[in-house]
Amino acid sequence: MLFNRSIKIAPSILAADFANFGAECRAVEAQGADWVHIDVMDGHFVPNLTFGAAMCAALRPHISGVMDVHLMIAPVDPQIDAFALAGADIITAHLEAGPHIHRTLQAIRGAGKKAGLALNPGTGLDAVEQLLDLTDLICVMTVNPGFGGQSFIASQLGKISNLHRMIGDRPIHIEVDGGVTSTTAPLAVAAGADVLVAGSAVFIGGSVQNPLPYGHNIRTIRAAAEAALG
Ligand code: DX5
Ligand code: ZN
Repeated sequence: MLFNRSIKIAPSILAADFANFGAECRAVEAQGADWVHIDVMDGHFVPNLTFGAAMCAALRPHISGVMDVHLMIAPVDPQIDAFALAGADIITAHLEAGPHIHRTLQAIRGAGKKAGLALNPGTGLDAVEQLLDLTDLICVMTVNPGFGGQSFIASQLGKISNLHRMIGDRPIHIEVDGGVTSTTAPLAVAAGADVLVAGSAVFIGGSVQNPLPYGHNIRTIRAAAEAALG
């Protein structure tokens, strides 16, 4: 994975057809997705349950690009090796998921993967400064994690700007996750985000049998986002 700050659209398969995940991953990539975002939830850290490392391993052959795995689980550390073996490129853990996020990020890098750090909307940036040297991506949640289809929390835009300033020249992606649409994407990009996770806004109107709306939706979000770069 080479680092750059170009806009990347990462469809979240949380909004895909759960009976068709492999085909859905192939369809969004064929329609222009840059990364595929996989939301792992444990019914404990967040109030919803999705799937685990075995599903990621099963999907790996269906994703030719970057597999971006967002772990909404606690504890995280006992699961890291399983997600690494499953073929994740990026493994993102929540700062709020336990007392030892520093160790968690070390362990992800130790497993040979890019380390992501996710921040809930209620979490400030104070603790992030100590973690920058261990982090390849910071995911700013613009909804409270657990469910797709929620509204973008605009108060997070100031946090993204401050984070962008804090990161400076470091090769750290800023990902925004939750409520991303062609209306909110440009706001996030103007504040400094380069990776846009979008579930509902990508999958709406399409299906494996009729994937062209995915392409339309991805192009619409990308065009709006790139316009914000000026
Ligand atoms: C929320 C997940 C998001 C979610 C985004 O907990 O982390 O990735 O699927 O979904 P939309 O784009 O529908 O808000
Ligand atoms: Zn996510």
